[in-house]
Amino acid sequence: MKRIVIVMLMVMAALWQPTAAQERLTSPDGRMELRFELKDSVPYYSLYRDGKAVVLPSKMGFELEWRDDLAHAFVLKDTKRSTFDETWHPVWGEEANIRNHYNEMLVTLEQPAGAVTSADGRSKTMATVMQLRFRLYDDGLGFRYEFPQETLPLLLRQENPPKKDNALVCFWIKEELTEFVMAGNHTAWWIPGDYDTQEYNYTESRLSEIDSLWEKSHEHGGWPWTAFSRTGVQTALQMKTDEGLYINIHEAATLDYPTMHLNLDPKTLTFRAWLCPDAAAYKGRMQAPCHTPWRTVMVCDKATDALRSRLILNLNEPCALEDVSWIHPVKYMGVWWEMISGKSTWNYTNEFPSVKLGETDFVHAIPNGTHGANNANVRRYIDFAAKHGFDALLIEGWNIGWEDWYGKQKDFVFDFLTPYPDFDLPALNKYAHEKGIRLIMHHESSASTVNYERWMEKAYNLMNEYGYDAVKSGYVGTIIPFAEGHYSQPINNHYHYAIVEAAKHHIMVNAHEAVRPTGLCRTWPNMIGNESAMGTEFRERIHPGHTTILPFTRLQGGPMDYTPGIFEPDMGKIVPWGKKMQHTICNQLGLYVTFYSPLQMAADFPEHYEPYLDAFQFIKDVAVDWDTSIYLYAEPGAYIVTARKPKVSSLNKAAEGLGKLSDGKKGVISNAARYVYGIADTLNTKHLTLNTPHEVWYIGGITDENAREFSVKLDFLTPGKSYEAVIYADGKDARGIPDEGYNPYSYTITKKKVTAKSTLKLKMAPCGGFAVSIREITNVK
Ligand code: NOJ
Ligand code: CA
Repeated sequence: MKRIVIVMLMVMAALWQPTAAQERLTSPDGRMELRFELKDSVPYYSLYRDGKAVVLPSKMGFELEWRDDLAHAFVLKDTKRSTFDETWHPVWGEEANIRNHYNEMLVTLEQPAGAVTSADGRSKTMATVMQLRFRLYDDGLGFRYEFPQETLPLLLRQENPPKKDNALVCFWIKEELTEFVMAGNHTAWWIPGDYDTQEYNYTESRLSEIDSLWEKSHEHGGWPWTAFSRTGVQTALQMKTDEGLYINIHEAATLDYPTMHLNLDPKTLTFRAWLCPDAAAYKGRMQAPCHTPWRTVMVCDKATDALRSRLILNLNEPCALEDVSWIHPVKYMGVWWEMISGKSTWNYTNEFPSVKLGETDFVHAIPNGTHGANNANVRRYIDFAAKHGFDALLIEGWNIGWEDWYGKQKDFVFDFLTPYPDFDLPALNKYAHEKGIRLIMHHESSASTVNYERWMEKAYNLMNEYGYDAVKSGYVGTIIPFAEGHYSQPINNHYHYAIVEAAKHHIMVNAHEAVRPTGLCRTWPNMIGNESAMGTEFRERIHPGHTTILPFTRLQGGPMDYTPGIFEPDMGKIVPWGKKMQHTICNQLGLYVTFYSPLQMAADFPEHYEPYLDAFQFIKDVAVDWDTSIYLYAEPGAYIVTARKPKVSSLNKAAEGLGKLSDGKKGVISNAARYVYGIADTLNTKHLTLNTPHEVWYIGGITDENAREFSVKLDFLTPGKSYEAVIYADGKDARGIPDEGYNPYSYTITKKKVTAKSTLKLKMAPCGGFAVSIREITNVK
């Protein structure tokens, strides 16, 4: 099979004759080259690195409703080139400064008047303009289609203007025809294409094997699932060539447009864009002037460069919010794992097989005794989170409706306003605020976007009234309006509406089961998290190595609320049906550094942290927002080792915001700030002010089922300074594989004096990891 594919590629390459009309664009470093040309009036692009093809000539265009396709009969009207270079500063992120440096080419194509006909064959169309904007970076390509509106008024000013009803003003897309023709049968890390879920383990295979692995790729995935093709895959799709080049196809800034999946023709190794259709099977309803999202092809020599790439963020628009002072990183705990693990329930009573909002009487219902979000339990979590210097606590199952929410496709499923009788919302918020903790609101929409929009304004107002500044939303189930999928244009518009409305209320959003992100957090930094992939809630079903793939794929578009920190991975100790999760405690520690999110959870129960408070110290000390990130070692599906330096200005931002609430505790110091400033547990701001930050770095490592050892040179530390390193490492007998040797609990903690000349040898057990915190030693205390 491999040989046939190679021969076919050679034939294709031989048939490909560059023509004189080829337009070329090079990247700032000169290594990448984009070529565009019309071949028989059909637009094609191709991409090269160091003169070698990365994307072979690939078609561009659209199939439209009621009109001939935007795929042929084009003439080249104009080509404009420009250069852009700026450094911008994200509100939160993996580094404080991001360089956005590219060369651009804007190609204007025209289907001349009369060149094509409308689909009914009766009328000739007027001239139609389609522009292609290419941005070429040192680490990849972004391109999008643009549909200017100027053409219409200009044409109408002509003496005999063509008939208006053929103009490209409002048009409906049947298919986007963008291709990505691969130059080899690469290795890929992929999840199956799906209109409703991204909650899958990754499959590593050659492109030609995708079809035969299709059934297997669905094992233990999310629900509901809606496949469209045995060779359909989702983006971000990470690939590696036999020569060791890392290629990633994704999209950026997906707004008012369906999500792009890819469908592979294995014979030609051609991916074609496969947009998620709406309920009427359309794949984009456009109104000019408008443009598509960016289609992206990242190309890197090294895996660590792929983690360093900011291609997706750079292709998004700058921040749309003038005031971002209310947005801050969050380290949180939750009354959550109790329900996920089966220890407690979201629902308050077992009495009601059917709940009708406004009619069902919860006040007189008999409590089931398993409801997790009860006053006493919530207070217990608040006390623990406050004691250990966290910012916030999520509580799920606080509101009525959980008795019959799942799988019923109920429209009027929740009101997001009415607490269960044993959840005293005003009192719990007051209690939390007085202890220095914010409560995080939970809005499970049960995928009824209609119902969520019905209540959204009131729900956000309630949050404002009680001082909540973050919400976790969810979209479990079959989407309402019925027959829509999770990633169609109208539903993508819903997710965005929720973000924009939340921003008006100064609310940060962490959406689960929503569309996977495409860098929109640059524009809307109140989008502090998303799940949109298989996270910790899948427990033992998560494959070893899963978290070494996500930073290459899902995280390219924005941070993930992966919910790490499970210190008791043997779920059988919680419920009889529980199974063993595949990780060690140190693997979970490593995730806080390898896995970027400004919203990080310590997901386990307080009682599971109590026996391991010395290891828990790393979760307390680690920051969640960064000045600098260094990707030391990485390979998708195998390992990641990352070092990060905290951004001092945001270390205590959550606590400062809380201090401004009328009932908010003043002078709270988050534990990460305590660590960086070297403020002892017993002291608070009465004794010390936050004015002497130390130079601090954290290093994290994670591995798949293979034990590994890495040498980490600390040459990123400042020469001449001395530091204390605290090393949290898998113990000799640590093992996260659930066989006879299973021992996720074994770890060692050692302290060492280090300098920029030191090298740390760090070992990881199977399914293990490590974490290191490094703090400058100073005399000032
Ligand atoms: C699925 C989410 O991913 C999970 O975190 C949440 O607890 C449940 N839905 C209930 O909303
Ligand atoms: Ca989920």
